[in-house]
Amino acid sequence: MKILVTGGAGYIGSHTCVELLNKNYQVIILDNFSNSKKEVLDKIRFLTGKDMKLYEGNMLDKKFLMNIFQENEIDCVIDFAAYKAVGESVKKPVEYYTNNVSSVLNLLDVMQKSNCKSLVFSSSATVYGDPKTVPITEEAEIGGTTNPYGTSKLFVEQILKDLYQSDNEWNICILRYFNPVGAHPSGLIGEDPKGIPANLVPYISKVASGKLESLSIFGNDYDTKDGTGIRDYIHVVDLALGHIKAVEKLCKVKKGLHIYNLGIGIGYSVLDLVKTFESVNCVKINYKISPRRAGDIAICYSDPTKAKKELGFEPSKTLEDMLKDAWNYEKNS
Ligand code: UFG
Repeated sequence: MKILVTGGAGYIGSHTCVELLNKNYQVIILDNFSNSKKEVLDKIRFLTGKDMKLYEGNMLDKKFLMNIFQENEIDCVIDFAAYKAVGESVKKPVEYYTNNVSSVLNLLDVMQKSNCKSLVFSSSATVYGDPKTVPITEEAEIGGTTNPYGTSKLFVEQILKDLYQSDNEWNICILRYFNPVGAHPSGLIGEDPKGIPANLVPYISKVASGKLESLSIFGNDYDTKDGTGIRDYIHVVDLALGHIKAVEKLCKVKKGLHIYNLGIGIGYSVLDLVKTFESVNCVKINYKISPRRAGDIAICYSDPTKAKKELGFEPSKTLEDMLKDAWNYEKNS
């Protein structure tokens, strides 16, 4: 079975390609390396002992996309390619909507014309906005996103629903990720953000390695057990395996539109992460309490029941595993 993985050299994409190749899927990567490095491809080859095809280019170029579908009989697409920095999206909304929405429209048009109607789409828990209750089920209200990144995911979800409504030959899985962290246990691939990391775990890792001086904890006055924000952190390898489950589901059911939360269903606070990182890795994390970050919410964690029941998806890695692997990758890179 041939799978086109857009953004396949990126953080979640690369881990997913490893798991796909391990399961003997044929992988075609489309990437423009705007936020990833070509070396990742050799690491994927090394980890799996298998090769994949690469198309380097931009999804905004429809001819380029069409050419990929003409040269390959693609059975399914996993669409990761997107910009993902929340703060940057506020400053560059046009770039974000163009890259995250127009590219999907091009992809869908080309898929339609090529009669390839199986798609796994990378969405985000951010579509729930500030949830009224936790844990969050897939039936919870969506909307109220606070930045163009989140809104771009919301828009694409709506586009996919409209598309399915118009043609129910489509077979679509929307995966709403909670907070992916950690790295491959080999330490060879992981998250490598450009510049100063915006997300918690890459930031903690850089403080641990001495590359950054101190972590700012954004607020300790939330209505949570220790006042710091609570999130549902999921190991990136578990998340990658969730994509395999989604592809298997699409192979089985043939048509439909399915939405799943991918999280572990446990909420950890920022202080839980700092303490756990320190204890599992025997390092000290300097931190200070800073004001709340604009747009942050207090609590967000998933109800993972639907993914477990319908996909058989059961993340097995603990917070300790996530933070050990994040540190291992940081030391390696
Ligand atoms: N935090 C800090 N200091 C930092 C960075 C983060 O205290 O330097 C805190 C945040 O305030 C929050 C928690 O750590 O309470 C997690 O923050 P992240 O930036 O790592 O993650 P977010 O929950 O803000 O957002 C992430 C992704 C989004 C995605 C969302 C889904 O960045 O793309 O998870 O829940 F949409």
